[in-house]
Amino acid sequence: MNIIKFLLRNSRGLALLAIIAGVLSGTSGAALIGLIHASLGAGPGALLNLQWQYAALCVVLLLTQYASQVFVLRLSQGAIYDLRLRLSKSIIDAPLRGLEEAGSPRLMASLTGDAATISAALINVPIICINVATMLTCLVYVGVLSWQLLVGLLVFMALSIASYRLTVRKAMRHLKSARAEADTLFAHFRAIIEGNKELKLQRRRREEFYDEDIKTSAATVRQHNLRGITTYILADGWGRLLYFIFIGLLIYVVPRMTAVTVQDLTGYILIILYIRTPITVLLNVIPSFSEAQVALQKVNDLGLSLQKEIGKERPALTAEVKAAWNTVELDGVMHAYSTDREEGNFVLGPIDLTFRPGELVFLVGGNGSGKSTFAKILTGLYVPEAGEIRLDGRPVTSETRDSYRQLFSAVFSDYFLFERVVASDDPDLDARAHEYLVNLQLDHKLRVEDRKLSTTALSQGQRKRLTLLNAYLEDRPFYVFDEWASDQDPLFKRVFYTQLLPELKARGKAVLVITHDDQYYHVADRVVKLDYGHSVPGGYDAQPSDMELAYA
Ligand SMILES: Nc1ncnc2c1ncn2[C@@H]1O[C@H](COP(=O)(O)OP(=O)(O)OP(=O)(O)O)[C@@H](O)[C@H]1O
Ligand SMILES: [Mg+2]
Repeated sequence: MNIIKFLLRNSRGLALLAIIAGVLSGTSGAALIGLIHASLGAGPGALLNLQWQYAALCVVLLLTQYASQVFVLRLSQGAIYDLRLRLSKSIIDAPLRGLEEAGSPRLMASLTGDAATISAALINVPIICINVATMLTCLVYVGVLSWQLLVGLLVFMALSIASYRLTVRKAMRHLKSARAEADTLFAHFRAIIEGNKELKLQRRRREEFYDEDIKTSAATVRQHNLRGITTYILADGWGRLLYFIFIGLLIYVVPRMTAVTVQDLTGYILIILYIRTPITVLLNVIPSFSEAQVALQKVNDLGLSLQKEIGKERPALTAEVKAAWNTVELDGVMHAYSTDREEGNFVLGPIDLTFRPGELVFLVGGNGSGKSTFAKILTGLYVPEAGEIRLDGRPVTSETRDSYRQLFSAVFSDYFLFERVVASDDPDLDARAHEYLVNLQLDHKLRVEDRKLSTTALSQGQRKRLTLLNAYLEDRPFYVFDEWASDQDPLFKRVFYTQLLPELKARGKAVLVITHDDQYYHVADRVVKLDYGHSVPGGYDAQPSDMELAYA
């Protein structure tokens, strides 16, 4: 998508106003030069009249310039706002698998780096508009003065633009490479923040990481940027040179070839000197557009569609939560992670399973057997590549998937704890939250006020318990816990398995618990075992008594 199209998409009316004001201001600028030119050769009587015209034109110039800049400023700020919202929304809505494949450094680079680059270019738009308008009206004025002069000027401008375009292509290549390397650099930045402890403890790793990874990446970005921008500077210098050659021809060559009065020549040179400023400004800000074009391309390459309509909200989600349901069936469901490597590609399924309300199911299996993958499929976060999921006999489709997801409250092993507890209109939410905090033995640590946690600076296990607070408050019909208890102390583990889970079951909730805690398997109604992506034959649809046999 083109950056200008992006800018104009929302507010064509405002753009029209800005253009009108820009043309007016450009015209008054050119008129001012014409007036100066006329005044230079005028007698004292005419000067008296001209001075008022001059003053009036100054005021018009000021006002129209102000108006056009403000209009375009509104336009560009509106586009930046729109860009930020669209980018966030398209990341929220993008399929989870796609996001995982893109990786968080690339996504962060887009949200911060690319968005900032595009914004910077959009901020330049007012400058460009006003200068284009000034340049065009000046050209018209030059044409009025002398058509030969206009032709000469246009030829020189065409020459400078053509040579500029030639160099721009080369510059773009470097800027693109710089941007690609910036992704790697972002990944390193993330590592120095998230891997700070490890880096501090291991000097060798720290030095190696700093010297070989960060330095190399930063240097590559610098090198490509230097080359790209130097090419622009060269192009800019060449443009200036052509310009002065043109003025030189006017002063030194033209008078020898044709009769031209000093008065006319002064007029020509005045306007040509005046037109130089907009041209230089334009040449200077255009690189920011090439950079923005690269950034926009990057955003599109991520598969994040900025075309989508925003503001089309779905009906209230709470209304979609299905309170009464009978079965969730997985029928021949499969998922494969596609990687570049042929060997070791993981395939989950085909899996056939049925879940019902009031049922407590444990999912067990070795590391890498596909339990977390299964949880993402069950909750509708991954779309099965084969087979289907049915809710009360009706297949879940792309239209109904979001509603289907609202059935679940899940705590994944890589959970994220939001500061604000779940959205709800319940006026007693804070009080209810307090009750649950007491249950979770966290009431002495924090409070919930206006739906916000007073702190999230807690121990790992305590933070994990807070995820249960959300799960309880959400009050969804189906709970999924991915190794929830792994970092809990033995006491609270016991509370979780023997008190909290049976309570959920008693309230009619379906609960899927991914666990390695074999001492509590007897709590489950059913234990499903995964082995290299396959549910073990016989399904372990076993009562606690059979289970020991199964695990012998
Ligand atoms: N993001 C990913 N990209 C590619 N392959 C993946 C990805 N995540 C997992 N896998 C593959 O899928 C397999 C199953 O992973 P999964 O996380 O579902 O296992 P798990 O049973 O939850 O293991 P654990 O007990 O360690 O949590 C792994 O062996 C791995 O090869
Ligand atoms: Mg897992």
